[in-house]
Amino acid sequence: MITFAGVTKRYPDGTVAVDHLDLEVPAGRITVLVGPSGCGKTTSLRMVNRMVEATEGTVAIDGKNVRDIDPPTLRRGIGYVIQQAGLFPHRTIVDNIATVPYLLGWDKKKARARSHELMERVGLDPKLAGRYPAQLSGGQQQRVGVARALAADPPIMLMDEPFSAVDPIVRAGLQEEFLRLQDELEKTIVFVTHDIDEAVKLGHRIAVFQVGGRLAQYATPEELLADPADDFVRDFLGGERGIKRLRFFQELDAEQARDEAADPAAVADR
Ligand SMILES: Nc1ncnc2c1ncn2[C@@H]1O[C@H](COP(=O)(O)OP(=O)(O)OP(=O)(O)O)[C@@H](O)[C@H]1O
Ligand SMILES: [Mg+2]
Repeated sequence: MITFAGVTKRYPDGTVAVDHLDLEVPAGRITVLVGPSGCGKTTSLRMVNRMVEATEGTVAIDGKNVRDIDPPTLRRGIGYVIQQAGLFPHRTIVDNIATVPYLLGWDKKKARARSHELMERVGLDPKLAGRYPAQLSGGQQQRVGVARALAADPPIMLMDEPFSAVDPIVRAGLQEEFLRLQDELEKTIVFVTHDIDEAVKLGHRIAVFQVGGRLAQYATPEELLADPADDFVRDFLGGERGIKRLRFFQELDAEQARDEAADPAAVADR
């Protein structure tokens, strides 16, 4: 579990990016941070792996203050996916994915084997291994970004708008695959987006931020759609809230029907 307790980030120029944030991110689930541009999503994410240091308050992982963990050790347990994939242009795909294993001193053969395994996992054709990032489509690059973050099998993944650079159809495909992968891997994921539909589709819980870095509401997608905390959240959810809600429950029903067909016994646990 990742806990934010009274966390404020004030940048040196006085900008308050995050304002007294209290948030509990459950282990093994996808927690989405959503909100308009500049509301402090990236800053919040980066305080987890100490790429940004909190000005006040504490960020803790399983009860341990991240300030007491040295950054290299901390980051070994945290995969980070940035917007536009952020791949190294002069390294091949297989070596991009193996970045962290190389840093950890794995031998080349083992690192590359892991890289190939992950390419398969995220739906990349093994033939692409020797290409350079510029020779891939946007969607393929984003898959490489996800594979790279998974390479050392970290328990935590921070994902900053990982699917935002692709068109809506590719994006929907990536979201589906990501949900399937997460079903297997059960990572603790903090996922940033400014797209409320993506938040509702992927999030186990959703934190809606407001400009000024204030948390407007933290709730499950069902609760959020049924009962927005205030006018800001209601506006952010948009006029189609009723339709989104309907779609959410339709997807949930479809998912349950699939699970039931696959494993009737498990349904009794719900
Ligand atoms: N290094 C910095 N120095 C000063 N201000 C910063 C710095 N980084 C971010 N900010 C400011 O902090 C606020 C929050 O920025 P942040 O990047 O966390 O927002 P965001 O929610 O991720 O936005 P977006 O959706 O546009 O990516 C913004 O007002 C931004 O201008
Ligand atoms: Mg951002």
